[in-house]
Amino acid sequence: MAWFYFVIILSTFIRGLEAISDIKPGILYNHAELFIKTNAPVFHIEFDQYKSDGSLLIGTNNHLQTVNIRRIEDVASLLVTGFAQVNTTHAFIVDNQKHCIRVINRENNQLRDFAGTCGTSGYAEGRLGEGRFHKPWGIIADVRDPDRLLVADKSNHAIRSVNLISGEVGTVRNNGFYFPKSMQWEGAILMVTNYNYISMIAWWTNGEVTNTHMTGTGRKGDTFGRFNVAQFGTLTDAERVRENQYIVADFENRKLKILDMINGVVSPVCFRGRTIECTFPHQPISMLNLGNTLYVGTQKCIHRLTEFREARRLLFIGKYDVECHDLNSGSSRKLGMGNTLGRRRAELQTVCGFDCMMSLTLQPSYKCIDDQLTVYWPTDKIFPPEAKELPKPLADKLQWGIYQSETLKNVGITFELSEIFVL
Ligand SMILES: *[C@@H]1O[C@H](CO)[C@@H](O)[C@H](O)[C@H]1NC(C)=O
Repeated sequence: MAWFYFVIILSTFIRGLEAISDIKPGILYNHAELFIKTNAPVFHIEFDQYKSDGSLLIGTNNHLQTVNIRRIEDVASLLVTGFAQVNTTHAFIVDNQKHCIRVINRENNQLRDFAGTCGTSGYAEGRLGEGRFHKPWGIIADVRDPDRLLVADKSNHAIRSVNLISGEVGTVRNNGFYFPKSMQWEGAILMVTNYNYISMIAWWTNGEVTNTHMTGTGRKGDTFGRFNVAQFGTLTDAERVRENQYIVADFENRKLKILDMINGVVSPVCFRGRTIECTFPHQPISMLNLGNTLYVGTQKCIHRLTEFREARRLLFIGKYDVECHDLNSGSSRKLGMGNTLGRRRAELQTVCGFDCMMSLTLQPSYKCIDDQLTVYWPTDKIFPPEAKELPKPLADKLQWGIYQSETLKNVGITFELSEIFVL
């Protein structure tokens, strides 16, 4: 299933009976763990193809470094906002401060100027010493042309090209971008992370190159939802995490956000610690996804996130006709309801007997929509994610127990396995 969704039941206790949160995270990760302290902002992360032992190659404000969980090793000293490893030995590096592209041979760590004019900014095409960039940021191999690299020429608001043999600089397109930083391939379409929006470059058979605005209204904000209304603070990177799903790093809002390319929706990436948080503890700058692990580079560290697996939990459900506005916080109606739901929970425990335990950590929650109140009483009976329904003997027993209870029968209590998180 490309898009799994579920309801998070906020574990707010019955004394403050709370409505179910409507956030539907696109992905839930376990709490971020520290991978390594870099003490420098991490602008770009890739799997280190030269070492090929699980180390990461990173670009910071003063070095190209190879890191693993234990140590950091300098490869070259320069400000590296981006690099592209074209094979196991050679990486093309963006020297953002000097406005040029250099190439490093990892076998002898020899670094040489390759494209643009190191030390001079501007906007020009041509060979080494003629071509000009202005604060270039990201670089990526062109999947459509093996002899070409593409460069996000940030302060020229353009995507440039560099010939892999001659170092000749060209221009792919120079309008519709605003401080472009990183680039990712979505098939043969190039996704560009601009200052606060994402655009897509497409190459057409008639030779035309278009740049289409995809999401982010172009105004700063922090809004989830459909691509045409979603807003971002400042974007620094994007990374593919699943088929048709990308995570973008919203530096200013301290959030990771997921772009669902099929449904055209931006939703939060959340993290499970003591509670579920959808704000990242630090300002995210760069990302690398390897399998189900996401590495996130920040101002001083690299964090590692592993995906959290959802499980299914047995829930009891009751539906009541009410007037939703009567349930405003602090109302006597709401307080009274808290007590009633507490009593129902005790009755449901009787129905469960020894076969299920009403949850002590996850409290009853409700949602009220169109004057129908739905209440959920979670149990601590957990089933694996692939479980579709309750085992028949347990289902029969619960059905019988509900039928035996005058109050529960009248309310029409039901039960189901629900895809919620085990908090
Ligand atoms: C790796 O790429 C560099 C730069 O393009 C090239 O000079 C070198 O010959 C390549 N090495 C291999 C083994 O292909």
